[in-house]
Amino acid sequence: MEYQKLIAQAITAKESAYAPYSKFRVGAALLTKNGKVFTGCNVENVSYSATNCAERTAVCKAVSEGEREFTAIAVNGDNNDYLPPCGICRQVLAEFCNLNTFEVILANSEQDYRIMTLAELLPGAFLSENLKPGIF
Ligand code: THU
Repeated sequence: MEYQKLIAQAITAKESAYAPYSKFRVGAALLTKNGKVFTGCNVENVSYSATNCAERTAVCKAVSEGEREFTAIAVNGDNNDYLPPCGICRQVLAEFCNLNTFEVILANSEQDYRIMTLAELLPGAFLSENLKPGIF
């Protein structure tokens, strides 16, 4: 899928953001290996730490529908700039995505975006292999 189409879906998903506290809306569009797209928005809570980011909303929607293999995610926020996923979202993406090939598309608009791999965004990731000794 073209980057522009995925970005357009992230921008549309942002419209559903529930962000009464921060007033900062975020949209994400997650692409599966088979070409399906799952979108997400941030869903805030009066107990602020219960807030769910747009990226994690998209991952949870996809995984709960049986998808576990992803190739890219587009993210668009209200900052008129590239929006890097927060640390928790990077960790959640690392659970399901290949660090070296998964593309994080930081989209300011459909024309203005920057692509980073998950490995670039999350060096030294904590992975399931690290549950056993002798890996690090
Ligand atoms: N937020 C996201 O949805 N994704 C990110 O990667 C960064 C932060 C949300 C969480 C909160 O609702 C608002 O943006 C301000 O932090």
